Amino acid sequence: MASRITRTVGILATASLAAAGPCDIYASGNTPCVAAHSTTRALYSAFSGALYQVTRGSDGATTNIAPLSAGGVANAGAQDTFCAATTCLITKIYDQSGRGNTLSPAPPGGAAKGPQSGGVDNSASAIGAPVTLNSQKAYGVFISPGTGYRNDATSGIATGDAAEGMYAVLDGTHYNSGCCFDYGNAETSNTDTGSGAMEAIYFGDSTYWGSGSGSGPWIMADLENGLFSGSNPKENSADPSISSRFVTAIVKGEPTQWAIRGGNADSGALSTYYSGARPSRYNPMHKQGAIILGIGGDNSISAQGTFYEGVMTSGYPSDATENSVQANIVAAKYAAGPLQSGPALTVGSSISLRATTPGYTDRYIAHNGTAIDSDIISSSSSAALRESASWIARTGLGNSNCVSFESKDVAGSYIRHYNFALELVANDGTQQMHEDATFCGQTGLAGSGTTSIRAWGYPTRFFRHYFDVAYIATNGGPEAFDATASYNNDITWQVRTSLG
Ligand SMILES: *[C@@H]1O[C@H](CO)[C@@H](O)[C@H](O)[C@H]1NC(C)=O
Repeated sequence: MASRITRTVGILATASLAAAGPCDIYASGNTPCVAAHSTTRALYSAFSGALYQVTRGSDGATTNIAPLSAGGVANAGAQDTFCAATTCLITKIYDQSGRGNTLSPAPPGGAAKGPQSGGVDNSASAIGAPVTLNSQKAYGVFISPGTGYRNDATSGIATGDAAEGMYAVLDGTHYNSGCCFDYGNAETSNTDTGSGAMEAIYFGDSTYWGSGSGSGPWIMADLENGLFSGSNPKENSADPSISSRFVTAIVKGEPTQWAIRGGNADSGALSTYYSGARPSRYNPMHKQGAIILGIGGDNSISAQGTFYEGVMTSGYPSDATENSVQANIVAAKYAAGPLQSGPALTVGSSISLRATTPGYTDRYIAHNGTAIDSDIISSSSSAALRESASWIARTGLGNSNCVSFESKDVAGSYIRHYNFALELVANDGTQQMHEDATFCGQTGLAGSGTTSIRAWGYPTRFFRHYFDVAYIATNGGPEAFDATASYNNDITWQVRTSLG
C-alpha cells in the first residue's frame, strides 16, 4: 500500500513536470523568471496571453499573437492571415512573467543611432526565422544588423551585484563578428557606463575581446567593455565552437561567481563551459537592469543572429534547475521551417525576372557591368542584352535552403546587395559575400503565380525596381527606394525561362 501510494505520487509529479514550462521549472527552483520572452511558445504552462505584436505594412495595423492554447506554441496561422499580401514586422515581444518587461525597438545609444525615425533601431521581419515546435509552425526573431530591442525601465531585473540567471534558444548557424548579438542585462542609459554594467548572453564569432576554442561561433558573456569566455580576458579553451542548428545558451552570475553553460537545444544535456571567479575589474558587478536583444549595451548594432525564446531570473539558478529547463526545450522539438514558398526557384534553371508593375512589364532585372538595373529587353533584343538579363538559380551560397543568382554571361559572378543596392560581383568566398548573395523566393505580394525575392540576411527587404535601378527595399523606410507607394507591385516578379 505504502509503495503503491509512493508510485502514484511519483507518476503525478512526472506528469506535471512534463507539462511545466521553463518558468514553472525556474519557479520550483526558487529562482523565478522576472522576464520571459518568446515569439514561438508560452514559457509557463498556464500562459495564454499575447506573446508578441506584429505591425503590417499595408495599413500600419497591429495585432497580438498568442499561443494556440495555454502553455502552447504561438498561433503562426493568425500572423499569416493578418499579414497576407503585405509585409509584417515584430514590433513588441511581450514579457510573459507579468512584470511588464516587454521589449520594443531600441532607442539610439552611445555607439549608434538606429535607422528609423528618432534613431530607433529596426524591427525584425515577422517571417525571417520560420521554425516548427513539435511540428507546429512558429516564427523566431531574425536580427539583421541595424535591428534591436530593449527595455530601459524594467521591474524585478537584477541590479548592482545581485544574482541572476538567463537562457536563450538561438540559431547556431546565424551569427557574425559584429558587436554584439546579446540577450540580457544592460545599461538603462543606452551608453557604456563601464566594466560590469552588463551581464548578457553573447553569441557570435567576434575575437576582438575574448574567444573560445576553434573558429566559433561561441557562447560568451557581454559584461561591458569585453566579451568573456571565462575569467581570462582572452581565450578559454573550454568554451567550444557551436555547431548545432539550435543552441541553448546560458549565463548566470552572483557575487564573486558566474558561469557560462550551453548545449544543443534539440538533444542531450547542457555542459558547463566556465564556472568560477569574475574577471578582474568585474567584481563586484554594477548591473543596471535594462534588457537588450540583438544589440550591445551602448546600442552597437552591427551584429546578427536569431532568437527564439529566453528568460531572465531572480537569483542564481542551480545547474539542476537549468538541466530541467534544457529537457523542456529539447521536448519542444525545434526544427527549421521552410524559408521559401510559392513558385519554385529551381536550382540549375536559367531564368529571367520580369517586372509586374503596370506600365513596366517590359522590364527585366539585368546587369550593365557591375550595376543591376531594370532594363527594357525583349526576345528581339540583341543576344548580349538578353544574356545580361539571364540568371542561373544556384543553391544559396549563404544558406542552402534559399538561392543565389549567377550571371549567365559572367560565369562565377552573382547578384549581391551592397548598401541595399543590387550589384554583380565575383564570388570572393567570404561569409559576407555569400550571405549578401542569398535570396529566398516567396509567393509574390501582388499576386499568385508570381514571386517576391527576399534578402536572406535582411528579410524585411525584397528585390525592387525603383526608377530603373534594382535594390533590396523595405515597405516604408529611410531610403527613397523604400517608398510605400507601388511597393507590392515593384517587389513582385514573373519568373520566366531565360531570355538569353
Ligand atoms: C550601361 O551603362 C552605360 C554607362 O552608364 C550606359 O552608357 C549604357 O547605355 C548602359 N547600357 C544599357 C544597356 O543600359
